Amino acid sequence: MRQILGESLPIKNLISMIHKVSGNKTNILVIGDSGTGKELVARMIHESGPMKGKAFIPVNCGAIPETLIESEMFGHKKGSFTGAISDKIGLFEAGSGGTLFLDEVGELPLSMQVKMLRALQEKTIRRVGANEDIKVDVRIIAATNRDLEAGVKAGTFREDLYYRLNVILIKTPSLRERHGDVEILANAFLKKFAERQKKELDGFSDEVLEIFRTHHWPGNVRELENTVERAVTLETGRIINVGVLPPAVVVNYDGGARSKLESLSINVGQQKLAAISPGPPGQGSSKEIRLPLPDFKDGPMNLDEVLAEVEKQYLKHALSFTGGVKKKAADLLGMTFRSIRYRLGKLGMEVVEVDQDDTKPSS
Ligand SMILES: Nc1ncnc2c1ncn2[C@@H]1O[C@H](COP(=O)(O)OP(=O)(O)OP(=O)(O)O)[C@@H](O)[C@H]1O
Ligand SMILES: [Mg+2]
Repeated sequence: MRQILGESLPIKNLISMIHKVSGNKTNILVIGDSGTGKELVARMIHESGPMKGKAFIPVNCGAIPETLIESEMFGHKKGSFTGAISDKIGLFEAGSGGTLFLDEVGELPLSMQVKMLRALQEKTIRRVGANEDIKVDVRIIAATNRDLEAGVKAGTFREDLYYRLNVILIKTPSLRERHGDVEILANAFLKKFAERQKKELDGFSDEVLEIFRTHHWPGNVRELENTVERAVTLETGRIINVGVLPPAVVVNYDGGARSKLESLSINVGQQKLAAISPGPPGQGSSKEIRLPLPDFKDGPMNLDEVLAEVEKQYLKHALSFTGGVKKKAADLLGMTFRSIRYRLGKLGMEVVEVDQDDTKPSS
């Protein structure tokens, strides 16, 4: 099994929590940003406890069409609906004795939440179209990167189910909360991908390590892992250098060799909105944005990718400033409400919806 790597305090706390809870069958809710290891934590809880060797069944609650979800979870009798050509057991039965990992649990439709609550409370399920209940003995670990409490307030997530799942809450720390671990993880991924690709690599250049330490890693460990895999694939020397990093990772870096690059500033309207200039990161005025110019000696880059990343970070920043209120974030960014909504959709950014005007459930 894959290990949870890291030596930072948040990771040590996480591992000790996993050991505390793995011995019994209490329901657990794992929350954390995308790519922080929620599924890995769930697997480790499963593997470290009495369910080891039994089924671990991951279910992405957001990926099953609403019309099929009940039959997926609980099974069905032959002929109970069009397409039910034979009896079928559901995931609760398949996972009996083991762990059911309900990923993206915040995406469960309300109708299913009621049935799920019943299954958890009574420890019985009923196949679609059947008349009798079946006992099930399965541990539930649920995960979400959404704010379920906000979902409860907004009426999209049942409060009773929330408390049922949330007997024990485990939060996976984001990578930027544990910068000391970045190098440990990067080295482990380097070793893994170098072996897999049969490449001889000695490590990362100092500049790359500096970028890894200062990048904010919105995609967390998954982003780091993908970054290292890409770098191992593209690197032709023995040391991973900055040229094989994706632009989105390099975009905020303005130190090292890059600070010697030509500077550029952009004036928009009356305000100096962007200054792309040499110097260490984070020292510009609040109206200044420091971006390194690409060093084309490192190879081609993708401007659209960079601009999309900049757009994403600005949207995220504005939304976190306004507590998720899109209308106010749109005002801060000088755009209309329609425009911010369009951009968030286009960039696939999930937002916990708190705006009065567009999020009241219609029913
Ligand atoms: N502490 C860690 N040590 C080693 N690998 C990790 C760690 N945390 C995450 N990973 C790896 O990062 C990747 C993403 O982890 P995982 O799929 O568990 O994240 P997630 O929180 O479920 O993300 P999402 O919300 O996007 O589904 C996986 O390949 C996982 O093995
Ligand atoms: Mg996941």
